Amino acid sequence: MTKRLSLITPSGRLTLGNLLGALRPMGATAGSSAFYGLSDLHALTLPHEPSVLRTRTEEMALLLMASGLEPATLFIQSHVPAHRSLSYLLECVAHTGELGRMIQFKEKSRRVGASVRASLFTYPVLMAADILLYGAAEVPVGDDQRQHVELARDIAIRFNTTYGKVFTVPQAVHPAAGARIMDLAEPTRKMSKSAGDTHPGSIFLLDDADVVRRKVARAVTDSAGDVSRDPERPGVTNLIDILEACGGSAAGLSGYGALKSAVTDAVVSELEPIQKRYRELAADRAYVTEVYAAGAARCREVTAPVLAAAEAAIGL
Ligand code: ADP
Ligand code: NA
Repeated sequence: MTKRLSLITPSGRLTLGNLLGALRPMGATAGSSAFYGLSDLHALTLPHEPSVLRTRTEEMALLLMASGLEPATLFIQSHVPAHRSLSYLLECVAHTGELGRMIQFKEKSRRVGASVRASLFTYPVLMAADILLYGAAEVPVGDDQRQHVELARDIAIRFNTTYGKVFTVPQAVHPAAGARIMDLAEPTRKMSKSAGDTHPGSIFLLDDADVVRRKVARAVTDSAGDVSRDPERPGVTNLIDILEACGGSAAGLSGYGALKSAVTDAVVSELEPIQKRYRELAADRAYVTEVYAAGAARCREVTAPVLAAAEAAIGL
């Protein structure tokens, strides 16, 4: 059975964009061949606060379960040491020149300014290890991650050619089309958990009804007044997209007041069952710990032979 791997970085709190664009499609295919991980190691590549990272990872762990991903193998990347071990071996195969060409590295290191972490530079190698450990042949990623999957592919081919065939060579594929949700305050940018926990344009999965209402009420629109999709009116288009992705319909709505009220109701009823399940899980931490411990154990089992083969091939 081919395994499917998907990682999400606890670099912020999960948003409605993450739910509709990622968790929903992940839920649709969350069977025994799906491995869904929280990439806490990736979150260490940028300046971070240890207690904040821990809180975010815990919240996200509960939210993955609460949004219906439990049928998959759920795990936390740092609980499966093979990711770090293989990453080092691949650093011995990757070249500094190709890492320096990664667009995300250039962009993020420019943003960080001084004291860029070495892990930000080697991050694509860790990502290659994530992929190669699970033998995924196809990796569904957005355009921003395509270059990293191509690097993983180059590294796999180079390793196989130099040391013997150990890895399945992965290929980037287009992800199943999920909704693409834009920021409510700046609708030309996608809603992102990395925008910060107090960003008014982000709806977080744990926002209560009042907070959702307030954020939607303040969402940027325009002066046209007409409830219809229009590339020149990204704010209103986004509200209609959100409404429909949450099971509502904009047909017959007149005026932005009515649209916003319909969006609020649809989002609140989308989030309610997740929040209810989240509270149940928060009251039963032992169960959550058990689920992630079992997930990590399964990952260790699945990845051990791949790591062992790579170590043997490279001469350890
Ligand atoms: P973020 O930008 O929120 O930090 P990531 O880049 O870590 O999110 O992506 C995590 C997953 O969520 C990916 O599958 C990505 O495609 C999806 N995703 C992130 N933001 C959105 C959005 N605004 N709309 C739809 N899907 C999104
Ligand atoms: Na991000």
